[in-house]
Amino acid sequence: MLTRRTVIKLGAVAAAGFPRFAIGQTAKIRIGVMLPFTGTYASLGEMGISGLKLALSQHGNKFGGREVEIVTLDDESDPARAPSNATKLIKGDNVDILFGTVHSGVAMGMVKVARETNTLMVIPNAGVAAATGPLCAPNIFRSSMTMWQPAFPMGKVAYDRGYRNVVSITWKYVAGEESIAGFKEGFEAAGGKVVKEITVPFPDVEFQANLAEIASLKPDAVFTFFSGGGAVKFVKDYAAAGLRKSIPLLGSGFLTEGTLEAIGEPAEGILTTLHYADTLDLPANKKFRAEFKKAYGKDPDLFAVQGYDAGELLAVGLGAVKGDVNAKTELYSSMERTVLDSPRGHLAFSPSHNPIQDIYLREVRKGQNIVLNVAAKAVSDPSRGCKMMPA
Ligand code: BEZ
Repeated sequence: MLTRRTVIKLGAVAAAGFPRFAIGQTAKIRIGVMLPFTGTYASLGEMGISGLKLALSQHGNKFGGREVEIVTLDDESDPARAPSNATKLIKGDNVDILFGTVHSGVAMGMVKVARETNTLMVIPNAGVAAATGPLCAPNIFRSSMTMWQPAFPMGKVAYDRGYRNVVSITWKYVAGEESIAGFKEGFEAAGGKVVKEITVPFPDVEFQANLAEIASLKPDAVFTFFSGGGAVKFVKDYAAAGLRKSIPLLGSGFLTEGTLEAIGEPAEGILTTLHYADTLDLPANKKFRAEFKKAYGKDPDLFAVQGYDAGELLAVGLGAVKGDVNAKTELYSSMERTVLDSPRGHLAFSPSHNPIQDIYLREVRKGQNIVLNVAAKAVSDPSRGCKMMPA
């Protein structure tokens, strides 16, 4: 019961300069997790929240000494509902932190609301450049990548393998388009040519007409961005159309991430570039994979790693301010300076709050993404248009 005596006591604590939550340590930090739990990206959402929850459990369910409560919302990868969904979490559910999402179009709606309400937002997957480009902000962080980061290095890899004319195919939305643009930049700088850019509406998986077109164009290779359920369908259809042996399939690693079991044999031999691989021979990766498997009874993938690292980033930042989410300047500056020994390797953050990380060249062999080499070391997105980047 709140008596006059407790009120006086609370007043004394507040006057002593303690943050409001210090009183009895009862108030929890509320994290609004907005991810797709249905649709083509459902498995990515599940992995993301599992990674976050693993990090949290390793910190005794507390960040900065305060208990954490997670409020979840299925964003269904629907950009149209993103602003109202994010507003509901912030205004209706009173979350302190916005965590999400997978789909870049949805992330854009969340960024808008996070900026307007000055809410700390951590993006555990979506790669849209604007979030850490023109729309970068002190309160917006990303634990994943821009679409450019894994795609650009594949350009040189493709050229060095002797490919000169490449056709690209992706879903027609910002993540797909920026992934193709990244590959094209790297490939054409090396001397190759993207001869045709094919797009399919998101999240369609009817590829027959597109595959017939690719067969008639006879490029040296195909570069693609698909992920989740759509990636499974595309790789199977590509093989079934008889293209696999004659026209090598390349991709950003999302194509073969978390999809290999469902695809099976048709994935064998696919080359991709990504900031993670299950098979990375790093102590932090081995530890993470063992702990994830113990907690959930299944193997993690990149999307789990990104959720986990987002949790670790919050643990460091909130640790520095003893859980006071309102100590924004110190919280953000601590997050910005964070360096993680991530399952993916060394992970630091650029002034735009985007990861700086190695990009690995991987090949699918016996149902696993095997690391062939580091395709590009410590890759930092140019973050074009971000005013927080040094001139
Ligand atoms: C995106 O929309 O940004 C995205 C979706 C799936 C995998 C990677 C990126």
